[in-house]
Amino acid sequence: MASGGRLAGKVAIVTGGASGFGAGIVRHFAGEGARVVIADLDLEGAQALATELGASAAAVRADVSKDADVAALARAALGLGGRIDILVNNAGVGQGPQALESVGEDEFDRLFAVNAKSVYLTARHVVPAMKRAKAGAILNIASTGGVSPRPNLTWYNSTKGWMITATKAMAIELARFGVRVNAINPVAGDTPMLPTFMGGDSAEGRERILTTIPLRRLSTPADIAAAAVFLCSDEASMVTGVALEVDGGRCL
Ligand SMILES: NC(=O)c1ccc[n+]([C@@H]2O[C@H](COP(=O)([O-])OP(=O)(O)OC[C@H]3O[C@@H](n4cnc5c(N)ncnc54)[C@H](O)[C@@H]3O)[C@@H](O)[C@H]2O)c1
Repeated sequence: MASGGRLAGKVAIVTGGASGFGAGIVRHFAGEGARVVIADLDLEGAQALATELGASAAAVRADVSKDADVAALARAALGLGGRIDILVNNAGVGQGPQALESVGEDEFDRLFAVNAKSVYLTARHVVPAMKRAKAGAILNIASTGGVSPRPNLTWYNSTKGWMITATKAMAIELARFGVRVNAINPVAGDTPMLPTFMGGDSAEGRERILTTIPLRRLSTPADIAAAAVFLCSDEASMVTGVALEVDGGRCL
């Protein structure tokens, strides 16, 4: 653990921290000196990463769409030292490419429960501690799809548009309490979620995505983590309410 890193001494929660972008964020946060609570449905994956990182990380099983789980998660993080400096709402689920009218009600409800309601639940249980401390940084992992949607991912993209509006609304309400709220909009990333959006993995599918990205590559967990470290560090102390594209120019 870096004792003098850019997040030295901070306690962070990263939801969905066992995989993909979340695991990248956890690694970078720990490398910058934070103590990270890795919250995931996948306890085994979260524990494996926590073991790799040693004293900088702890694993908690939590379903971020369930109030009781999120309450227990906040208690576990507060148990580390009485404060939560950083909350990253990264856990999410994707959807397969489908005409908007064919998506079933159960899938619609699941998309909104995990991608949107979770932001409300973590706010309920974490914001009071941040208000007491008069400090905090919240980061929501949204998507380019929330800004510039493409066909056949309508309800997933809508959850991300919701998240971007929630980011701005939370930022304006929480500013007077010293709490900053920002979002990152990643472009398609090389994570286990990617094949879901493509309806399966294929070289042709990846190439189709690449043609829409001016820098001609997919985003990586390291790309998202670098932006996350900045937005959650004191270097960004004047930055709130932004939704930062990390997208190789996809939204231009
Ligand atoms: N990969 C992409 O192309 C892409 C692009 C833009 C935005 N995003 C967003 O980035 C975030 C991370 O995605 P990823 O690509 O790393 O996906 P991923 O599937 O690799 O990781 C998601 C993690 O979230 C966890 N998770 C899922 N539901 C959960 C729940 N209810 N409670 C707790 N944990 C849960 C999973 O177990 C997994 O560890 C998501 O919000 C996703 O929507 C992904």
